[in-house]
Amino acid sequence: MLIVFVFISLIVAAFFLYFQSKQNSERQALKDQIEDLKKKYEVANQNLRIEEGELETVMSAISDAILAVDKEGRPIFFNTKFETVFGQGRVPKFLRLREIFEDVEIVKAFDLALVEGRSSLPHPFKYRIASGQEKYFSLSVSPLSRSGLVIYGALGIFHDVTELKTAEQMRIDFVANVSHELRTPLTSIKGYTETLIDDFRKDPENLKEESTQEFLFKISRNAERLMNLVGDLLDLSSIESNEVFHKELVQTEDIMSRLSKSMEVKFRNKKQTLDWTCNQKEVLADPNRLEQVLINLIDNAHKYTPEGGHVFVTWEREGNEVVLKVKDTGVGIPAEHHPRLFERFYRVDKARSREQGGTGLGLSIVKHIIQKHEGTVSVQSAPREGSTFICRFPLKSKH
Ligand SMILES: Nc1ncnc2c1ncn2[C@@H]1O[C@H](COP(=O)(O)OP(=O)(O)OP(=O)(O)O)[C@@H](O)[C@H]1O
Ligand SMILES: [Mg+2]
Repeated sequence: MLIVFVFISLIVAAFFLYFQSKQNSERQALKDQIEDLKKKYEVANQNLRIEEGELETVMSAISDAILAVDKEGRPIFFNTKFETVFGQGRVPKFLRLREIFEDVEIVKAFDLALVEGRSSLPHPFKYRIASGQEKYFSLSVSPLSRSGLVIYGALGIFHDVTELKTAEQMRIDFVANVSHELRTPLTSIKGYTETLIDDFRKDPENLKEESTQEFLFKISRNAERLMNLVGDLLDLSSIESNEVFHKELVQTEDIMSRLSKSMEVKFRNKKQTLDWTCNQKEVLADPNRLEQVLINLIDNAHKYTPEGGHVFVTWEREGNEVVLKVKDTGVGIPAEHHPRLFERFYRVDKARSREQGGTGLGLSIVKHIIQKHEGTVSVQSAPREGSTFICRFPLKSKH
């Protein structure tokens, strides 16, 4: 009996051990499987993080500002550009569109996508960005939807069009300025000519009158002004387009003595002196265009310096540059005008300049010519302290 009991106990123990070891090996297999899944999850997670990082890098490299919002108009995504332009470097995610943008038109464009599921056409608008600058953007908003049905948000792309707008404005201003400058002398010419014709019809003998001569003189002066203006405009457009400059070594002494001779009478009439020193003997430049630079600068110095004043021209070498300075003892220019002085048609005192026959193109021609020589031009001036215009030419051509 005891033997039977021991035998049965042994069988039970064997079964127990067998099941235990089976359970252990199943547990181990399960553990391995879990480990395996964990590793796969980690790899997938890492890949996702890499992809997210790449996406973020791509998004921050995009020059447009991008904002995605949820159905309630709260940000769900924005790129670095958006943060810097619209959010002073920070856009809290709990803000709504109305709290981010003051401009209702922007909010409306997002609403169109969120409520009606429609994309808005690129909409241009002016905006004072976080840094305080005024910029122009073109905004396009598209709805974000799942399987093309359920709208869960909207994506706005803000494209900076400030440069385009500025160029367009410059073109509009230019055309307006040119038309105005052309019309003024043309109106005078037309008026005086009609008066002369009337007078002639009434009494042909009248043509000998002093007033008639004065009218003819005015017509001629206005026609000359027109010629100068058209000439300057043609010059500017030629310099700005791809006109080839023929650079050679120009002798500074030669060009100075030739120019001072041609301006002698002008200077004498105003009891002014024109002196020059040429410590630098040569400059690499297009001779005709260089002459134009000198004429424009010396002519300004002469025009904007009262009777009895002095004009000095110097040619020096400074390091790798040839420096031309045209200095006068004239009326001078207040500092606030310096940054705009080289713009087309810009004049400090419109009335005085027009009286002198100026249209405000001379300095912009100078700037373009110097730039084509890979050089720079600047001004030092203060009211009643005279002005110095400084042109720097590279000693050797960079190309
Ligand atoms: N040497 C100077 N002294 C004082 N003001 C000057 C001097 N040179 C230029 N300016 C100011 O800068 C403005 C622009 O000069 P710019 O030579 O471009 O035009 P302008 O002399 O009026 O006309 P233009 O040269 O086309 O006949 C002038 O109207 C004048 O107000
Ligand atoms: Mg001038």
